Amino acid sequence: MNQRVLVASNRGPVSYQFGADGSLTTSRGGGGMIAGVTDGLAALGPEASTTWICAALSDADRAVARRRGTSAGNGIPVRMLDIAPDVFDRAYNRVANSTLWFLLHQLFDTPNQPRFGREFRRDWESYLAYNEAFADALIEEALTPEAATGEGSPQVLIQDYHLCLAPRLFRDRLRSRLGGRLGGRLGGADPAAGIGHFCHTPWAPPDYYRMLPDDVGRALLDGILGADRAGFHAERWATAFMDCCAAVLGADVRRTGLAGPGPGPVGRVTYRGHVTEVAVHPLGVDAAALRERARAGDVRAHAGALRRAAGDRKLIVRVDRTELSKNIVRGLAAYRELLATRPQWRGRVVHLAFAYPSRSALAEYRAYTDQVRELARQISEEFRTADWDPLVLEVKDDYPRSLAACALADVLLVNPIRDGMNLVAQEGPVLSERGCALVLSREAGAAATLAADALLVNPYDVTETADALQRALEMPDAERQRRGAALAATAAADPPARWLGGQLASLGLGS
Ligand code: F6P
Repeated sequence: MNQRVLVASNRGPVSYQFGADGSLTTSRGGGGMIAGVTDGLAALGPEASTTWICAALSDADRAVARRRGTSAGNGIPVRMLDIAPDVFDRAYNRVANSTLWFLLHQLFDTPNQPRFGREFRRDWESYLAYNEAFADALIEEALTPEAATGEGSPQVLIQDYHLCLAPRLFRDRLRSRLGGRLGGRLGGADPAAGIGHFCHTPWAPPDYYRMLPDDVGRALLDGILGADRAGFHAERWATAFMDCCAAVLGADVRRTGLAGPGPGPVGRVTYRGHVTEVAVHPLGVDAAALRERARAGDVRAHAGALRRAAGDRKLIVRVDRTELSKNIVRGLAAYRELLATRPQWRGRVVHLAFAYPSRSALAEYRAYTDQVRELARQISEEFRTADWDPLVLEVKDDYPRSLAACALADVLLVNPIRDGMNLVAQEGPVLSERGCALVLSREAGAAATLAADALLVNPYDVTETADALQRALEMPDAERQRRGAALAATAAADPPARWLGGQLASLGLGS
């Protein structure tokens, strides 16, 4: 049977730009979710027929979206939705990024934020409309003539906190439009079997989650519970989600925990007569493909330039988007404390801090970026000598340069306040040429799999992080190589093909 897979996410695998002459050029969409889904879909092979539904994010995307039909992004048919700019802005910037991201990462400055007034109600209406646009598009893609025979009826994979309402909206639309008329996966007593939702972020515990207005908190949970399977990168986030379902909705929650190492179900939530399986699917990296990419000339050229600039000094590397959750400021403060309290490292270490732009439409992000720049400037000024600059801060995104830095790193610093998974913590050890020591926040989802071989830190504890940097710098070569190899093996254990394939298998694909 031909496999039909529909993916829905805010950002898609391709984005368009207008050139100077008005022509359209494309670039690959960025971020861990895009990489995981793209590579996972590629691994399904030619038997699979896929469509990726995403939002048009720019004027150039909108121009493409208005032509309707699908365009190809990394070989995957993509359908972009031309959602009205003001609706998109309120759904994406105000609700998804300013409210849900802050909630799920527990980032609110609670004496001042959040504040749910009339404006938020308008924003929430837009979030609903935005989710409805996705549900409508999914229905159109699902209800093909082939689906009516049961052949090629789709599995639907809905991504992330932007689209919490879409699973329920899609399920309800499917029921009311089709009832039991369809065969196959979309037929029978439960016409919508085959809907997965995956959250790439952490989930908040009930006490924090309850900051949301009651109806909003309930709607988000109820929306995800429209799926047959709700996935998370780590058991901790899956458990927090189930706790919210019990505390906020009063749903019937059966927690089983993971049966063994690796992906699998951790519980079931029954609500409004429907059972949603809650599961953990950690996303790792395709080690072979990553190493192959790192052998390319552009990466080698960057590696040469970085090595020449650093000389034989040790390298502490970090690579992040400049998001508040990434904790870049405390990471810099820890490096400053290392240099202040261990003068023996002055002149012998360089910190490469790559902090790439993110969500600059939000004032909080712009202010945070300024804070990062200012602290970096202070550190350079405080410790710089005639022949040594302790810190190189790069804010312009450069993927090959990031790969080169990871290949050269002696120490990789990944210290998020909270993180759904964190791919850099996995890519770094895979790319490392001599084995790197990983200083890792215990609040990253990746800590669940990498804890044994990383140096775990409390991300709020600057002194502990400075101590861990010291330990990492002093780690004997043999231990660093042993730990680095173990980290790389763990990271390679759940490549995107397995991550996505496992989700589809649990939804019945190929059965
Ligand atoms: O990939 C990491 C992530 O946190 C995903 O959860 C999410 O899809 C993405 O970032 C969103 O980022 P952006 O707002 O830049 O599209």
